[in-house]
Order: sequence, then structure tokens, then C-alpha cells
Amino acid sequence: MCGIVGYIGEQQVPELLLRGLEKLEYRGYDSAGIAVVGETEAELFKEKGRIATLRKSINGKAEGTAGIGHTRWATHGPPSKENAHPHQSTSGRLTLVHNGVIENFEQLKEEYLGEVELASDTDTEVIVQLVEVFMNQGDSVKKAFRKTLRLLKGSFAIALIDNEDKDTIYVAKNKSPLLAGYGEDGNVVASDSMAMLHVTKEFVELMDGEVVTVTRDNIEITTLDGEEVTRDSFTAELDESDTEKGTYAHYMLKEIDEQPFVIRNIIQKYQDENHDIKLDPEVREALNEADRLYIIAAGTSYHAGLVGKEVMEKVAGKPVEVHIASEFLYNAPIVSENPLFIFISQSGETADSRGVLVNVKEQCHKALTITNVPGSTLSREADFTLHTYAGPEIAVASTKAYTAQMAVLSILAMDAARSQGYEDSFNAIQELSIVATAMETLCDQKDEMEMIARDYLTDVRNCFFIGRALDYHVVLEGALKLKEISYIQAEGFAGGELKHGTIALIEDKTPVIAVTTQEHVNLNIRGNVQEVDARGANSCIISMENTAKNGDQIVLPKVHDYLTPLASVIPLQLISYFAALHRGCDVDKPRNLAKSVTVE
Ligand code: F6R
Repeated sequence: MCGIVGYIGEQQVPELLLRGLEKLEYRGYDSAGIAVVGETEAELFKEKGRIATLRKSINGKAEGTAGIGHTRWATHGPPSKENAHPHQSTSGRLTLVHNGVIENFEQLKEEYLGEVELASDTDTEVIVQLVEVFMNQGDSVKKAFRKTLRLLKGSFAIALIDNEDKDTIYVAKNKSPLLAGYGEDGNVVASDSMAMLHVTKEFVELMDGEVVTVTRDNIEITTLDGEEVTRDSFTAELDESDTEKGTYAHYMLKEIDEQPFVIRNIIQKYQDENHDIKLDPEVREALNEADRLYIIAAGTSYHAGLVGKEVMEKVAGKPVEVHIASEFLYNAPIVSENPLFIFISQSGETADSRGVLVNVKEQCHKALTITNVPGSTLSREADFTLHTYAGPEIAVASTKAYTAQMAVLSILAMDAARSQGYEDSFNAIQELSIVATAMETLCDQKDEMEMIARDYLTDVRNCFFIGRALDYHVVLEGALKLKEISYIQAEGFAGGELKHGTIALIEDKTPVIAVTTQEHVNLNIRGNVQEVDARGANSCIISMENTAKNGDQIVLPKVHDYLTPLASVIPLQLISYFAALHRGCDVDKPRNLAKSVTVE
């Protein structure tokens, strides 16, 4: 959600910034802009819509070796050229980009900006105008910037440039991610290291409450009170090619195909030379000591948590609750005496989950984050982190992160079981390698999946997914995948619940996709399919070798009962992909969505 890039150095900056913004497209945005520091002033280029539109409008016109850029996902004011960042102060001297939400912007406007005419609806413009107001009262840029930062409430990552000091980008953050980076011929600022890999791989993390000045040959970090801070840089373990789609038409398809590799990678990373589970002893201890686990997550990660709960409870007998982060934040249940909170998040930046984490830490509970981005906010602020090793997930619709999260949770369940002496219980490592092979088989069946998307989902308004037991959790994910990228209204239901209301929606040709991989409820879900068929539904059955019947549309290779969602989700992902493709949707960047949801 929103993204910032900045560069100051020897190279021409417009192309560097545009490339950076393209790398941040995956986060979701609806307008974009850059400011290039020219001879006398910063020149602004902004457009509503895609970076390609911005690129076209710049058309080689911009020149300069310092600048900042931004992709905006509208919060205050609709997507428009006026509301796109960068924003300038009234005199035009200061130019600023911002990610996040300034909660007290109305109050600040009233208190300090009575005389100032604002050019946009954004909370962001208030920041840059405030800095100028303080400068007009005699403060230096730096002092005015610090004064402004002290007044801001909410989340922000900010980069500011001053026409009269072309050698500096002023930077600060609170709750929103921001990095600075050391290049060979200049330094950078970025929301995500991925954005600036074409300049450098060496980055330094910035912390809340710091004020940072980035110049051509230095990055100076200070506290809000001006004390110097030293911090080691780190090398991003990514190549630019990891973030490219190669011969694939879409990142989503590439990421679906990467799943067998991701699962094998997880097996390797979580196994020692004796084939025992390799886990940080402190995580093991926290897991064993906890009397109850609380999984907190949103969206797809929440769906992975639902599966994780089942596996943990069945394999290790440990009670688990799974909560939607935004609900837990304002409506927390009574928590057990010795809980362990497990945050599941692909991005590690989800504001709803972070809100819960802050509360959990205030109550001195232990927290573990399972994430694909180990340096992320949720990872830094939790006591422990487990990495999902899925590689960058660029498509907005999460695919490989979901299966990776479930794989890590199943390993955690196995470890918890072993710690309790259940030596012969479920062997997640072995079973996951069977899953990886099954995934490969399924990824090779794209033509069949495309045909199903055509047969069932062309010209339909809605689609229902049903399942029971573990299959219920995966159909929730199937429905989410389909609705978010194809805009078909799709809902997942527990098969047994249909007749308690939802069946009223079944009409002639309503598509109903049923997943049945669990033997003990196979007959029940098939009964539910008959009920919808009797009312005219167009049903499609996804079963597994052990539950299959003649006429099922897809039969999955057999995998362990606890891990079936890792296999059954592949056809659901592929069917959603092809349905969206046939409808001409922007598969990788669905409307209104952001990859990293950094606002509540
Ligand atoms: C759906 C999707 C979202 C995310 C949710 C949480 O495809 O990607 O539902 O799962 O926004 O994001 P993370 O996992 O980054 O916390």
C-alpha cells in the first residue's frame, strides 16, 4: 500500500525512480508521481492510474540527479492528479511524499494552517505545509521537520526535499516501513529493498522516532532529539531477477508454479543433517510452555491459520484459537494464562495484525511472527520469527505464501508433538515432500483448469464453494482468490450450512465448486452437492484419490489428510487465475487492493 523511493547521487534520477516505482506496483496503488530536483526547483510529474501513464507523461522531459517518487493508494481524497504525491508547500520550496495515515491531520490543519490554502484533499499535504509554516517562523528545514514530526499522530514514512539544499533527502518514519540504502554513486530511500535493487543491495533499517538525512555520500541517522545513531547495514538477499516474471504472462501464474519449489525449500531450511526439525530452541520452549496458541492474521494468512489450528490440535493436542486481526484488535476474547501469540503475515506489515501485536507486547505476552519478510515490522517487533522462505510474492493475490505458511505451521505442529513425546506421530517433513510432488502434477494440469474456468465461470455473477472439515477452510481461500481477481461474487461455505440459508441463492446454472478430500465427510459433502444439483446448480467436484468417484471433475493425487489444503488449493488458484484472465481482469493488480495493507 503506497510506496516511496528516493535517490540522490550521480545518475540521472527519473528512470531510477520510475523503475523503483514499477517494483513497488505490486503493493497496490491508484496514482503515482515523482519530483526531480532541477537547476532551481523540484519539478513535479504526477498521474492518476498506472506508472506506464506517468512514464508516458514524463517522456524523457525530466532531468536531475536527485528526486523522490511515490505510488499512492487513496485514503484521504479520491485517486486524482491533485491528490497524487509528491505534494509541495505553498511557496514550492519543499516537496514531500508520505505513506501511512496522519490521524490528527484535521486538528493540525485547524491549529496551524488557518491561513494556508491547501491544494489537495490529502492528510499528507498538511505535513509539508506544517514544515513550511515553522520555517516561516525562522526554523531551519531540519528543525522545522523535527517540530512537525513531534506533532504527527498515526503512521508515516516520509521523504522530503528542499529546493535550497539540493544535496539532502530528509527522511523519517513511524510504524510504516522505510529503508535507506548505500549505492556506489549515490544513496537511496525505499519502502522495500526490492524497489532499489537496481542501485544497491546494501540497506540500513530505519526505526520509528529517527530523523535521517540522506546525501550523495552519507546516511546520517539521529534520534528526534538530535543524538547520533549508528546501525549496521544489511545485504538484501535478493536479486533483481527474483522480482521479475521472466517468461510468465503474470506474476500470479509464476508464483503458483513456484509452490513445489517453495515447499522443498522449506523442508530444507527446517531440517538438520539428522533429518530432525531445525527450530530456534527459544521458539520450541515458547511453544511448549504455552497453554494455548492464538493465531492472529488477515485474509489469506487467516485462512492458513485455520488450517494450522486443525493440524496443531490433531497432531500435538495443543489448543489453538484463530482470530481475524482487525476483530481481535477491538473485541479481544478472554485470553488464557500463558498464551503464545502467533502472527501470520506474508508481508509482515499488516496494520491490523500489528495493532494486535502492540497490545500483546504491552500485556507482556510472547509473540511469534511467521512471515515471508523477516526484516518486516511484525518480525522485528515479535519475540521470534519463523521465515516462510517463499521468495518475493509480487502478485497481489497471495498463493505461494499461503501454502508456505501452512507448511511451516505443520512443521511447528510436528515439533510440538515430538516435544511431548509423540515420536511416531505425523512426519510433516516426509509428508510435505509428497505434497510438493502432488503440487507439480497439479501445476501441469493448466489446460484442464482453464477448461473448468471456461465451463463454469464464463458470464456468471456469482459462485459458491463448499467443503467440510479441513476442506471448509480451503474453500474459504478458493472463494477469496476468485472474488479478488475476477470480481465474481464468490463465497465459501461449510457444506452442512447450505440448507440453513445459502441454498436460497442457488438458481439454474449457479456454479458450486465442492472440495472433498476428507473420507469421513465425503458422503456428506456429496449429499450437499446433490441438494444444489437438484436446484439447478452447475456443480464441480474436486476430490482426492481416496475420495474420488467417477465423474469428478478434478482428482487430486493423495497427500496426508492434514495437508490436503496444500494440494487442493492449487486447482482453486489456477481456476481463479484463468477465470480472471478470460474476463480481461488485471490479474496481478486487482482493483482497489493493495499487497501490503499498512492502514487499519
Ligand atoms: C489475498 C491476500 C490478502 C492478504 C491479507 C494479509 O490474496 O493477499 O488477503 O492475505 O491482506 O496480508 P499479510 O499476509 O501480508 O498480512
